Parts: sequence; structure tokens; C-alpha cells
Amino acid sequence: MSDPGSPSANRAAPKVSAELTTKDLARVVVHHRRLPSTSDRALALSKAGARHGLAVIADEQTAGRGQRGRVWRSDPGAGLYVSFVLRTALAPARAALTTLAAGVAVCEGLGRLVDAPLGLKWPNDVLVAEPGPRYGTKLAGILFEAVSDQDVVHHAILGIGVNLRAPSDPALASFATSLEDLGADDPRNLEVLVAIANALDEWLGRLETGAMAAVTGAWSAAAMGVGQTVEIDQGDRRVRGELLGLSVDGALSVKTAEGVRAVYHGRLALPGSPQGPELR
Ligand code: BTN
Repeated sequence: MSDPGSPSANRAAPKVSAELTTKDLARVVVHHRRLPSTSDRALALSKAGARHGLAVIADEQTAGRGQRGRVWRSDPGAGLYVSFVLRTALAPARAALTTLAAGVAVCEGLGRLVDAPLGLKWPNDVLVAEPGPRYGTKLAGILFEAVSDQDVVHHAILGIGVNLRAPSDPALASFATSLEDLGADDPRNLEVLVAIANALDEWLGRLETGAMAAVTGAWSAAAMGVGQTVEIDQGDRRVRGELLGLSVDGALSVKTAEGVRAVYHGRLALPGSPQGPELR
């Protein structure tokens, strides 16, 4: 029996590489059957000197994680679980923009595979934007993790989870959707990886050339809840007001009773969109 922990690393398979338009992203893919977390593996490879763009994928994660310490359910074959090693020259203060650029890219890449319109929920959830029963259900999530000191990002790992198929747990069905639910015919993780990598290459490229406004502009154009009254739970307090969009530095701009506030962290609740549990 083969060891589920042992990887197969390859230059992207021929069909995949024919459709990949990237210079570096996903040109090398390390595939594991099972891992605790692809992001941990990618970080270890980054520390060992892996090149920009290397992608780690797994069929299953046993300790997949999401934002704010949540669990990311990673059943075998139910999702794409991928983490990229990024080596873009980025000051720590700009790192938040990488998450936003990734959100735009994932939304764009997945949008090419499904019939329903997709949108972004701050900071980086990809949700169904179509009015109706599926409105606000979650298709994909992004976890950007950086090891940095004051001036330099030493390692940056971009982890992306995309639901390929409906989750087996019915408790997830009220707030999650999948590519299959949205009309994609037999979605495969390599095909989805290519769609994401191609879009990511373009948006990270724009960020590197300093086109911050292009990133925040595209993010705002895809943002859900703009013009609506929203609430952001920051643990010790709540910010409530009209969602205006994103400021140029990537903060959420909210018009409260006390004036316009820049929000840098917290959990955003959108009207009409189901909230997943804080821990799942
Ligand atoms: C979120 O909470 O929305 C972010 C989810 C990110 C999940 C992905 S799956 C691949 C990578 N490995 C992890 O452990 N997490 C990310």
C-alpha cells in the first residue's frame, strides 16, 4: 500500500500545463493523498527553499484550518485544498492586500467554472451573489499566513479551500455551496487549480507592479453588502453602519453614527447571508 503521507511532486501534468498561463504559480505541484494541512507542508517547503509558486495539494486534510482558528472541513475528494508558496517582495504592511488580491482572483477564476454570479465577503470569502435561496452561501475561503518581522516577509503561504461537492454533513449545507451545486460538471481539483492559478498570477502581478487601486477597485466591484447596513463583531465591540467599500490600504470602510470608520479586523455579518458557526 502506498504511504498517504508520501508526496508525488511533478511538473504540472501535460493537460494541466497546456491550460496554465502562469510563469511560476502551480508550475510545480506537490500532491499528497492526506496531510494535516497543506499550508503547514507549504511552509516547511518554503523554509527549505522552495521556489515561488510551488503548490501543495492534498485529497484530504486531517487538520485543515480556516480564519480565526476555525476548522476547515476537508473530507477526501470533497474539495480542492491547496497552498501556494509566495516569494513576492512585499512589505508586511502590504500583506493584507495579498489576501484581497487572492480573493479577487479566486472569485474570478471560479466564476469561469459556474453559472451563478459570485461575490466577495470581506475579507476573503467567496460567496454566491445571486439573489434567491443560495444567496450568501460559501464556495471558497482563503487563508493568507506570513512569517515576518517588522520590515520583511520571510515566508508567505496562501491557502485556498474550494468546495467541489456538497458536504456530506447536512449541518454545513445551509451556509456552504459547491462547484457541483452551482452547475460545474464533475469538477476536478487540477482543473480548478489551473483556473485559480491563472487568475492569481494576473492579480498578484498587478500588486507587484504597485497597482493597489486596481486590486481594491476590483475587490469593491465584487464586494457583497455595499450600501447595506452591516455589523462587524470585533470581539470586545461591534461596529454597525453602512458598508461603503474598501479604502486604498485594504480596510473596510463603514459609515457609522459617529462617522466613517476604517475596520481592519473582525467578523462581518451581511444581511441575508447565512453565518457559519464560529467553530466547525
Ligand atoms: C476560511 O476560513 O475561509 C479559510 C479557509 C482556508 C482553507 C484552506 S484549505 C488549504 C489550506 N490548508 C489549510 O489548512 N487551510 C487552507
